[in-house]
Amino acid sequence: MITDELEHLTSAGVERVRAAATLEDLRATEHELLGKKSALASFNQRLGGLDVEERKEAGRRVNEARATLQQAIDDRRATLAEAERRHRLEADRLDLTEVLPVPGRGHLHLTTQTRDELEDVFIGMGYQVAEGPEAEDDWHNFEALNMPPAHPARSMFDTLYLDVGEPESVLLRTHTSPVQIRVMQSQTPPIYVVAPGRVYRYDTPDPRHLAAFHQIEGLVVDKGITFGDLAGTIEAFTNAYFGPGTHSRLRPSYFPFTEPSAEFEVTCIFCGGDGCRVCSQTGWIELGGCGMVHPNVLRAGGIDPEEWTGFAFGFGIDRLAQMRHQVDDMRDFLVNDIRFLSQF
Ligand code: DAH
Repeated sequence: MITDELEHLTSAGVERVRAAATLEDLRATEHELLGKKSALASFNQRLGGLDVEERKEAGRRVNEARATLQQAIDDRRATLAEAERRHRLEADRLDLTEVLPVPGRGHLHLTTQTRDELEDVFIGMGYQVAEGPEAEDDWHNFEALNMPPAHPARSMFDTLYLDVGEPESVLLRTHTSPVQIRVMQSQTPPIYVVAPGRVYRYDTPDPRHLAAFHQIEGLVVDKGITFGDLAGTIEAFTNAYFGPGTHSRLRPSYFPFTEPSAEFEVTCIFCGGDGCRVCSQTGWIELGGCGMVHPNVLRAGGIDPEEWTGFAFGFGIDRLAQMRHQVDDMRDFLVNDIRFLSQF
């Protein structure tokens, strides 16, 4: 009797175990089949009413049934665990060969594009490109450019000093003009270079100013260079960069490192010189500063001003890009908003 019942219980139990679809299911089935309240457990109570021999035999059968069920459960558990592991691995797998549609390739920043175009124009005019350090010393940034300590023109440049060495001896260059000095120190004339790069001012950013921006510097040192060469060079550059029909003009100004000094302006590219909102009805847009290199500056660069003369100029690259593309707020250059950047 008991034997038949046990046999039935076992085969039905094994069926159930094999039907368990998840480890969770299997745990519940195990509890039902082998737990304290299981049918199998109730057999142990029934054994008490049997005589000794029968009890021995029946006990053995009960243990057998338990072992069979336990084995089936263990096997099923191993199978399910392996399946779940595989499933997890498959879900976590990274397909490194997958090719996703690219939402569009990036491109160089507007400032970089403008710098590259300017370099191209000047290289086309026979210039070389030079570079200098952004962390500069007081001597190159000011003193060698004819601004000794306490010179009032230093206040034109709101300077960020670095906490290196003597107080106020190392700074973030406020303009690209110190590269003039470095070029003169390392090269012998004739010199025809442009030096683009990042410069810094202790300034609160606003729609027309950034605390870190870019300039391009020009320096020519040769025999018999005159103010006429400067004016002609600015005109040639203006034509090459903005296209034929644009012109330039110089207006007297002051910079400590040039004498005489001038500000240069170009024909407003929006109205062609007729006068509009962008140029405040003047027909001209101011671009930068220029002049004949001061003899003190040539001397600081190790060049004899009796033998050589030269001119220099400098202007803002970001400002030029802002003007050309009519960007309202220069701070947008630094926000990295793809909607702004992708327009250029
Ligand atoms: N360094 C000047 C500035 O940042 C710009 C400048 C003016 C550069 C005259 C020159 C120059 O080379 O000759 O305001």
